[in-house]
Amino acid sequence: MIPRLAAAPPPSVRVRAPGKVNLGLRVGPVGDDGYHPLATIFQAVSLFEEVTATQVTPGAGISLTVSGPQADAVPTDESNLAWRAAALLAERTGLAADVQLHITKGVPVAGGMAGGSADAAAALVACDALWEAGVPRPDLVELAAELGADVPFSLLGHTAVGTGRGDLLTPAMTRGEFHWCFATQREGLSTPTVFRRFDELAGPSTPRVAPADDTAIMHALRAGDPVALGKALHNDLEGPALDLRPELADVVEVATESGALGVVVSGSGPTVAALGRSRQHALALGAAWTAADVVDAVWCATGPAPGTQIVTPMRA
Ligand code: C5P
Repeated sequence: MIPRLAAAPPPSVRVRAPGKVNLGLRVGPVGDDGYHPLATIFQAVSLFEEVTATQVTPGAGISLTVSGPQADAVPTDESNLAWRAAALLAERTGLAADVQLHITKGVPVAGGMAGGSADAAAALVACDALWEAGVPRPDLVELAAELGADVPFSLLGHTAVGTGRGDLLTPAMTRGEFHWCFATQREGLSTPTVFRRFDELAGPSTPRVAPADDTAIMHALRAGDPVALGKALHNDLEGPALDLRPELADVVEVATESGALGVVVSGSGPTVAALGRSRQHALALGAAWTAADVVDAVWCATGPAPGTQIVTPMRA
């Protein structure tokens, strides 16, 4: 009998990228480009998006599938940031935009935790490896910033100060691990809508922002002191997010009453982040939210987490 040879699977690369929480987020007056200058401190957390890029026949173009929690809320066409990342990389390198992308969601959708940005960062790294494009890191970071203000941080990970649109990054020194629990809502909040409400509420008197505004957070990170960090958490977008979603006040209150070291809306919301004393305490905060019936889902994670990484090198 002649043994049948199994066809080798096409080459593929699997990459994972983290979601984030903003420990401090200060927003300045909107600029002519429609963006707000920020002074923010990002921390990557151990909730990851995974993007697998698989080789397809030349001329097949880009295709995209999504699985995991809330996958049905994610577009699978060219409006998806991972798709746009692959298309942008192909355009800039002159390579053919032929790839099959699969996203496994691990970060809440439209929650202010940069899940879509993580997809874009992961897709950039995955396609760069699959196509053997060899784009230098600084150029990848520039492409990332074109795709969205939070995409460069997803590449970098850990903890970093962000200025400009949030895309000019300086790594921050931290000690130890911080234990988070996140409360998510089924219905997301649109980032531009929250920034617009910020403008409406702040009026023309919005003060300028400077990274030095959040020295208390930087001290707490360097000391590895979760109690001090909890007290220093701050988000200028919390007011507008609560204004758009008044019921988020209950989420904040339940975590505060359950002894959270600090509670803050994550990014543009509606996700609420609570800092626990320990992993067990973070789990207990999640249990308190669930028991109070004020959230749709809870997600516990630690920070800081590494940035975008190739998990499986090219399989051929
Ligand atoms: O860059 P990204 O696509 O993440 O931003 C989405 C929207 O959020 C922008 O179009 C803008 O309306 C708002 N934004 C802002 N200031 C920032 C970041 C985002 O006003 N620094």
